[in-house]
Amino acid sequence: MVVYQIYPRSFQDSDGDGDGDLRGIVERLDHIAGLGADAIWLSPFYPSPLVDGGYDVADYRDVDPRFGTLQDAAALIAAAHEHGLKVLFDVVPCHTSIEHPWFREHPDWYVWSDRDGPQNNWRATFGGPAWSRDPVSGRWYLHSFYPEQPDLNWRNPEVPRAFGDVLRFWLDRGVDGFRIDALDRILKDPELRDDPPADGPPPLPEAYMDAGLQSRNSRNAPDIGTAIAQIRGAAGPGALLVGEVYLLSDRLAPYVEHLDACFSFELLHAPWEADKVRAAIAAATTSGKAAWVLSNHDFARLPDRVGPRNVRAAALLLLTLPGMAFVYQGDELGMADGPDGGHDRAGRDRHRTPMPWDGAANAGFTSGTPWLDIAIPPGGTAAQQEHDPGSMLAWYRELIALRRQIEGGFELLDAAPGVVAFRRGKHVVALNLGDSPQPPPPVRDLLLATLESSAAALPPGGAMLATD
Ligand code: GLC
Repeated sequence: MVVYQIYPRSFQDSDGDGDGDLRGIVERLDHIAGLGADAIWLSPFYPSPLVDGGYDVADYRDVDPRFGTLQDAAALIAAAHEHGLKVLFDVVPCHTSIEHPWFREHPDWYVWSDRDGPQNNWRATFGGPAWSRDPVSGRWYLHSFYPEQPDLNWRNPEVPRAFGDVLRFWLDRGVDGFRIDALDRILKDPELRDDPPADGPPPLPEAYMDAGLQSRNSRNAPDIGTAIAQIRGAAGPGALLVGEVYLLSDRLAPYVEHLDACFSFELLHAPWEADKVRAAIAAATTSGKAAWVLSNHDFARLPDRVGPRNVRAAALLLLTLPGMAFVYQGDELGMADGPDGGHDRAGRDRHRTPMPWDGAANAGFTSGTPWLDIAIPPGGTAAQQEHDPGSMLAWYRELIALRRQIEGGFELLDAAPGVVAFRRGKHVVALNLGDSPQPPPPVRDLLLATLESSAAALPPGGAMLATD
């Protein structure tokens, strides 16, 4: 499957308030279906104070008025299905917003310190201690992310039950599955023991590295599989479940036992060097359930991470590896990071700027004032790229169409220095991540290749999909 990630606030505004909304998404489903995607994943649109871009949920079973209504959600699900697109919603089991009524009505559904101060040395992902004092009760609660996001206590059996009700609420309304947020955080050490000192850099980049701790006890408890099994049990065997598990692939076994796929963050973070990319692919393919992703609403966009020269090669890699591939909105237009807007305290606004659709005011995103400034990619708006066979949009469309023909096993191939190459059945993929032209492995017909790539040479940034 190819899953297209929509960040609702930045996709399409239909009512002129400057924020994208669910009705806007319906207006643009042709664009996604035209790309050839099989499914959409919507980042959260639930009622929220938007301290963490909607990942601070104040009601799991409603739509924030900025984004629409429950009727709009139903209409979106129906319209997506008519376009042949499955629908994944984003669910956030680790924490709620501090404004969720559960925090006051069910304080025992959260994690509290038994003393007047932090229970341990755990750090929050976005900096500072992972414990804050609740000004109402005076007690200290745990938050793995912002202080406005208290962690739910998955060791209280009422929490998985309540969360199961949330999944069924949306499944009853026709969604096909879920992207599940921050899953490795839902079960921590039952005794809430301190994290030990770090013995090296963290396995994956962390937003704040100042703590000098390894998060051994603050995430991924040894019995995490029991909670993942409860989620699968509630969702049923037919729901598509993709886990956001921020761990290396060799830690994913208890997750992929119950989920359909987990994102491979090794590849997303791999420096764009042949040996690093090869190693990330080799590690992630061992689980057999890798969901490939090269950008999302949390991290630098492709031109900023791999360099403009390598963006097409990165897309070709993403869309030819074996397994699900996730395309973040705007990557198909070659969008780069935009300006910061001062909304997200962790500085992620620049990965979330609105879609540049056409030549209308505000690039067709809104008739009002956009919540973030709009940046037009070098290749132009979606409308400008639409009929240009050399555009990034055309590149993604061709790749997704050709992807349908690729089947069969996966094998990394020996390749020239700087080149990553692999075989999928009778297809060969090769990309040059280095700085000098290199020969690809032996190939017969080029099905798709970047400019100046040939069976004899791949220029720097060059990439090809070929038959052998
Ligand atoms: C996930 C989301 C990120 C959010 C965090 C806390 O990593 O992708 O945007 O800040 O979880 O919910």
